Amino acid sequence: MKKNTRTAFIRHMLENERSIEPSPEFSYKALIKSRQDYDGMYQRSIDDPETFWAQMAEEHIDWFKPWDAVEEYDFESENPYVRYFRGAELNVSYNCLDRHLDGPRRNKAALIWQGEPNEEVDVYTYQRLHREVCKAANMLKRLGVKKGDRVVLYLPMVPQLAISMLACARIGAIHCVVFSGLSAEALKDRIEDSGAKVVITSNYGYRSGKILHLKDICDKALDMCPQVKACIVVRRIEKRTDMKVDRDVWWDDQMAAESPHCDPENVEANEPLFILYTSGSTAKPKGILHGTGGYLLYATLTMKYVFDLKETDIYWCTADAGWITGHSYLVYGPLSNGATSLMFEGVPNYPKPDRYWDVVEKFGVNILYTAPTAVRSMMKDGEQWINDHDISTLRLLGSVGEPITSKAWLWYYSAIGQGRCPIADTWWQTETGGVMITTIPGAVDMKPGSAALPFFGISPRVIGSDGNDTKPNEGGSLVISRPWPGMMLGVYNNPEAFKNVYFPMPGFYLTGDGAFRDEDGYFWITGRIDDVMNVSGHRIGTAEVESALVSVLQVAEAAVVGYPHPVKGEGIYAYVTVKEGTVINDDLRAELCNHVRSNIGPIATPDVIHFASALPKTRSGKIMRRILRKIAAQDTENLCDISTLSEPSVVNDLIQETKRMS
Ligand code: WTA
Repeated sequence: MKKNTRTAFIRHMLENERSIEPSPEFSYKALIKSRQDYDGMYQRSIDDPETFWAQMAEEHIDWFKPWDAVEEYDFESENPYVRYFRGAELNVSYNCLDRHLDGPRRNKAALIWQGEPNEEVDVYTYQRLHREVCKAANMLKRLGVKKGDRVVLYLPMVPQLAISMLACARIGAIHCVVFSGLSAEALKDRIEDSGAKVVITSNYGYRSGKILHLKDICDKALDMCPQVKACIVVRRIEKRTDMKVDRDVWWDDQMAAESPHCDPENVEANEPLFILYTSGSTAKPKGILHGTGGYLLYATLTMKYVFDLKETDIYWCTADAGWITGHSYLVYGPLSNGATSLMFEGVPNYPKPDRYWDVVEKFGVNILYTAPTAVRSMMKDGEQWINDHDISTLRLLGSVGEPITSKAWLWYYSAIGQGRCPIADTWWQTETGGVMITTIPGAVDMKPGSAALPFFGISPRVIGSDGNDTKPNEGGSLVISRPWPGMMLGVYNNPEAFKNVYFPMPGFYLTGDGAFRDEDGYFWITGRIDDVMNVSGHRIGTAEVESALVSVLQVAEAAVVGYPHPVKGEGIYAYVTVKEGTVINDDLRAELCNHVRSNIGPIATPDVIHFASALPKTRSGKIMRRILRKIAAQDTENLCDISTLSEPSVVNDLIQETKRMS
C-alpha cells in the first residue's frame, strides 16, 4: 500500500470502526476456512471437552502409554487443581524431535539461528538437533541430573538454549529458564527457589552491539548459591573467561565426549516440564509450574491453528525464550508440529531500524509473531526502513504481550502486512501455557484492537464486582470458568498462592486482566487490573520495584505505578519519599535506578523518579495508588473522591510537583 493510500485507509478505519474480513485467498487455503467452521469446532470443544481433547491428543501427540482419565479438575473447593491425561506417559523431546525423523522432515530445518552479528547464522535440521539434544541430555546425566531435578538456564538467544530445554525434557528434568536480562540478585532468587544444582550459562552475550558479561553476573549469583555443584558455560565469544575449578565446565568440551544417542525418559502427563518465574502482586516472582502432556498438546494445537501452520512455512517468533512466548511458540509448539522456527538473537533497531525486515527478506519469513511494543517502535522510526526490503513472503502476522491499539494494529496491517496478511492478536499469559483468545486467521473477521474470540475449549467470561456477567461493552474482570490442557499445574514451592492468587472466587480462574465483550461477542482486553505493570510486553510487579527502592538506605517510602508511554506501552513511575537530612539530587536518582537494575534487571529501571514530600494515604494508612496512577498519567481533572485521605493537601502538592518536573 502506498503511503497516502495507507494514511487514508487508517483514518477511514479509525473513524468507522469497521471489522476487516480475511481475504478469500487466505481463507481458501486456511486450516479453518470460515466462521462456521470455527463455530462448529468451538461448540464441539465446549459441549464435550473430554471427547474433544482425547481426539486432539490422539491426533497430535505420540504417547508411550495411554491415559486413565482425560480431564479432572476442581475450581470450587479449598484445594483447586487441574489434571489432564492422568496415567499417560510421553516424552516432550521425543514429540519435538524423534517422531519427525522417519520421513522427509529428517532433513528439514528445525531451527534457523540468526545471531546479532549478521554473519553468524546456523541451521539445525531435525536430525542434527536430535543428536545435539541427545548429547546434551547425556551431559546432564553425567553431571548427576536426574528425573525431577531442576536445571536453571541463564542463556542469551543461542541454539544451546533450545537444546538445553529439550535435553532437560528428554531426561525428565525440570528446566527453569531465567531471562538473560535479569540481574545476579534475580538469578540467585530463582536458583534458590527452584533448588537447582546445575546451571547453564554462556560466557558473554550480545545486545545492541554491546557485550553482556553473563558469566560474571552468573558468578555473582553462584557465590550466593553454594548448593550449585556444576555450571556449564557456552562459549559465545572467544574471550577470556574466569572458570571456577571443580564447578565450571565448558559446554563444547563436555558435549564432544557424549554419545548422540539417549533414550527418552517416560514422563507421566502431569509431571512437570518446566518452571518459569513471573511477576505478580508480591515482591517475589512466582514459579509457574507447567506439566507435560496437557501443556504439549495445548502448545501444539494452538501453534497449528493460530498460525495456520503449513509444512513449508518459515516461522519467526521474535520473543526471547526466557519468557513463556519463547517456550510455547519458539521451541515446543513449532518443533512438536515439525515446523521451521527462526531464532533471533538481536533487537529490532540494531544496527539500524530495519533489522527485522532484513531478517524477513534474508530467510523469506512467512509468519511473524511479535509484540505491540516492537510495532510502535517501528511506527515511530517510519516506513522508509521497510521500503528497501522485499517482505512479500509474509502471509500472516501475530501480536502478543499487551493490548495493541487500533492505530498500531492498522499500521501493522497496512505497512507490514500490506493489507494482505491477517493479524492474529493473541491474548494469553505465562499461567495459561498457550493462546486463549485470538483471531483465528482466515476464519474470523478482525476488529483492530480486539483479541476476538476464544480458542477451542476456552470459556472466558467478563464479570463485574457482583460476580455476574457484565452487559455487552461493559468492563469487568476477565475470568475463565473451566480448565484447558495448557493451564499451569501450580506455583512451585507455594501451593497456597495457587488458590489465593488464581482462585479467590470459587469456580473461576482469575486472569488479573480487565476486559469487555462487545455486542458481537468479541473480547477487548483493557490491561492489568492488579498491581502488575506491562512494560514493553514485560510483566513487572509494582511491589518488586518498590521493595528494591526501599532497600536503599535514604528511602523512607516508595510507591510505584505504571503510566502511559508512547513506545513501551507502560512506563514505570516511582514516587519516593526520603529520610530526613537526605540531599535530593541527580546522584541519588542515579543510585536508585542502579539499585533497581542490580536488584531486578534493566527492564525494571524506573522511567520517572518523583521525589515527593509525602504520599497520599487513607486514614488507615493505605497508599492511594488509584490517585498516584492518575497523577502519573497527568489525568488529574477528575480525581474522584479524595475525602477519605488523611491529608488531602498532599494530592495538590504532588500535582504541582509533577507540573514542575515536566
Ligand atoms: C498481557 C505473555 C492484551 C495481559 C504471553 C496478560 C495482552 C499479560 C495480550 C501476560 C494481548 C498478553 N492483548 N494484553 N494480545 N497478550 N497480554 O505472562 O495483561 O508475560 O495478563 O504472558 O500480558 O503476560 P505474560
